[in-house]
Amino acid sequence: MNSREMLVVKGAGGKKTLEGEVTISGAKNAALPLMAAAILFSGKVDIKKLPEISDVGAMKELLASVGAEVSQKGKTFSVIPPKQSRGVLSEEVSKRMRASIILTGPVLGRYGKVVFPHPGGCVLGSRPIDLFLTAYEKMGAIVTHSGEAYTIKAPRGGLKGAEIFFKTMSVTATEALMFAAVHAQGKTILHNCAMEPEIAFLADSLNAGGAKIYGAGTPTITITPVKRLRQKKAFAVLPDRIEAGSFLILGALLAKNLVIKNVIPEHLQIVIELLKESGVPITTTKNSIVIKNNIKPNSSFESFSFRTHEYPGFPTDLQAPMVVFLTQTKGESTILETVFDNRFNFVQALIAMGASINVWNPHQITIHGPSKLKARSLSGPDIRAGLAYIIAALLAKGQGTIDNVHLIDRGYADIEGRLSALGAKIERTQT
Ligand code: EPU
Repeated sequence: MNSREMLVVKGAGGKKTLEGEVTISGAKNAALPLMAAAILFSGKVDIKKLPEISDVGAMKELLASVGAEVSQKGKTFSVIPPKQSRGVLSEEVSKRMRASIILTGPVLGRYGKVVFPHPGGCVLGSRPIDLFLTAYEKMGAIVTHSGEAYTIKAPRGGLKGAEIFFKTMSVTATEALMFAAVHAQGKTILHNCAMEPEIAFLADSLNAGGAKIYGAGTPTITITPVKRLRQKKAFAVLPDRIEAGSFLILGALLAKNLVIKNVIPEHLQIVIELLKESGVPITTTKNSIVIKNNIKPNSSFESFSFRTHEYPGFPTDLQAPMVVFLTQTKGESTILETVFDNRFNFVQALIAMGASINVWNPHQITIHGPSKLKARSLSGPDIRAGLAYIIAALLAKGQGTIDNVHLIDRGYADIEGRLSALGAKIERTQT
C-alpha cells in the first residue's frame, strides 16, 4: 500500500474500445468473515481463492494480533487459532477496517473476552456498532467502554444462547452473531437477518466443519451450539458479486465484447435485469456473463431509477458505478440510497466532469443523461466510489488522474493490470 500512488487514465471519449475476458476474484466480503470464523475451529483451517487485496492483509494482521498462527503456501492461506487468547484486537488495524468488527464474534464466542476500538474504515455515514453490542448483551455478555476501547466479557461458562431481533438488517452483525453463537450454551435464534449470499456461504462452510446453522440466507437463522469445529476440506471463497457487477457496468459502457468469468449471475440478478431493460446486450451462463456491445452507442441505452436495498435488492456497493452508467443513458433517473447516510460523496466530482446531477438530500439524487464527461483530477473517497471514478475517467475525454489508490486496492486486485489487459489506457504512477 502506498497512499502516494495514483492512477493515470486516458479516456476513450465515450467510445467502446475494451475487449477480452476478465476472471472475478474471491469475494472480499466473504473472505474477511471466513478468515475471522477460522478462530472457531480446533486445529488448522485452510482457505483458497482469497482475493489479493489489502483488506485480506489487514485481516491476517488482526488474526495474528489475537495470537493466531497465519501462513501462506502457494495459493492456500492457513490459520491455526490459539488455544487461549486475551482477545485484544490490534487497535491500528481495527481503526482502518470496519470489517474488523466481525472478528469480535468468534473471539468472544471462543475465548470469552474481546477488546477493540470503535472500528474505522470507509466513511459512508455514522456506521454504529449498537446492534453488535446489544446482541452480545442479550447473550449474557457485559460491555464496558473506556476511552476508545470496548471490552466485552462473556459470563462464566461462555455466552448463552438467546433470541435476538436485529432492529436493522446488518450484514456483519448477522455474521458476527452467527459466529458468536456456534459455541454458546444453548440455542440462538437470530431474527431480521441480512440475506446476502456471503452469509449462506459462511454458514455452509461452518456446517461442513460440524456446525449446526439453519436458515442462513433467510431472515431467521437458528444456531444449535456444538463443542468443536474441525475442517475436513479446504474452503474456497465464492466469487465477488460486487467486483463482477463493477466489471459488468464497466463493460456495458466501455466494451465491444467482454466475458466475465468465475461469477454467479444469480447473485447479480437485479443488476442484470436493470441493465438488460436499459438495452445492454447481456447473456449469462451458469458461471459467466457476456456483453456483446459492438453495435450499441451508450446514448441508445434507456435511463432507469433504483433504490439501494438489502439483498436481493440493488447492492449499495454498486450504487456509485451505476450512477456513472446512468450519466450516459437517455432520460431522467432517480436514485435513492437507503443503506448508508453518506454514499453520494462522489457525485460532486462527476458534476465537475460534466454530468447533470441534482443532489436533493444525502439520500436522493436525480440524473439527466446523456452527458459527455471531461477528464479531471479525482480523489476517491472510498473503495466503490474509487472504482466508479475509474469508469468515469475511462469514459471521459482526455487524460485524468485518480489518487487515494490505496482505497481501491482494499477491494480490487491489480485493477490497472486487469483493465490494461482489456485494452484500457490506465497506469499506476508514484507522485
Ligand atoms: N447499522 C446499525 N448498527 C450497527 C450496524 C449497522 O445501525 O450496529 C446500520 C448501518 O449504519 C447501515 C445498515 O445498518 O445503515 C446496514 O449496514 P451493514 O451493517 O449491513 O453494513 P456492514 O455490515 O458494515 C457490509 C459490507 C459493506 C456493504 C454493506 C451493505 C462487509 C465487510 N462489508 O457492511 O461493504 O456496503 O454490508 O451491503 O461485508 C464494501 O465492500 O465496500 C462495503 C462497504
